[in-house]
Amino acid sequence: MSAARAPRPFVIAVDGPAASGKGTMARRLAAHYGLPYLDTGLLYRMVARAMLDAGHDIRDAEAAAQIVESFDEAAFPEERLRGREIGEAASVVAAVPAVRAGLLARQRRFASQPGGAVLDGRDIGTVICPDAPAKLFVTATPEVRAARRHKELIGRGEAVPFDGILADIRRRDARDSGRSDAPLKAADDAVTLDTSALTVEEALAAAIGIIETRRAA
Ligand code: DC
Repeated sequence: MSAARAPRPFVIAVDGPAASGKGTMARRLAAHYGLPYLDTGLLYRMVARAMLDAGHDIRDAEAAAQIVESFDEAAFPEERLRGREIGEAASVVAAVPAVRAGLLARQRRFASQPGGAVLDGRDIGTVICPDAPAKLFVTATPEVRAARRHKELIGRGEAVPFDGILADIRRRDARDSGRSDAPLKAADDAVTLDTSALTVEEALAAAIGIIETRRAA
C-alpha cells in the first residue's frame, strides 16, 4: 500500500498598491476558506515604527538592517502601526534590500503551514510565494483609493485633506513600484482585479470565482 501524499498547502497570494482594498479582501478570503492570514505590510510597518521609536532617520539603511534582525513583533500593537506617517515610513524601509531579506523567512514560514495560508503585500506572488496556486493583484484607480483611505482616516480621527492623501498614494505607488528589489507588480500568473467600481461584496465574489477556477485546475 503506498502512503497517501500530503495535499499541497493552498496558498492565496494577494498583492496590490496602497489602499486598493487588498487587506479587506485577504482577510475575508481567509475567513471564507478557514485559512490563517498574514498582513505582510505590518512587518514593514513594525520595522519603520522601531526605527522611529529608536530615533533613527528613516532613510538610514544600516540602522534598518540592524533593526530587522532584532525587533520584537509583540512590542507593536496594531494601533501603533496604522497611521498615515507610518505607512509612508514603511514604504521607505521596504526599499532597503537587507530589510526585505530579513523579513523573507518568517513570511515563507507562515505560508508553509500544512493547510495553506492567505498573505497580502506587494511581492507575495512574485518573490515570497512564487508557487502559490492562486494569485490576485487587487487594484483601483488612485482617486478611488485616496477616497477610501480618506474615509478610513476620518474614521480614525485623522483629519487630512483629500488632495494630500492622493499625493501620498501617488508617491507611495512610485516608490513601491520603482524600487529595484521586489517591486510592486503583478506576477505573470496573477489575475488582476480592478475594484474601482465594485463593492466589497462584489470584489470578494469575483475573487472567490477566480480562486475556485484555479483550484479546479
Ligand atoms: O500594505 P501596507 O500599506 O501596510 O504596506 C506598507 C508599506 O510596506 C508599503 O508601502 C510597501 C511595504 N510593503 C512591501 O514592500 N512589501 C510587502 N509585501 C508589504 C508591504
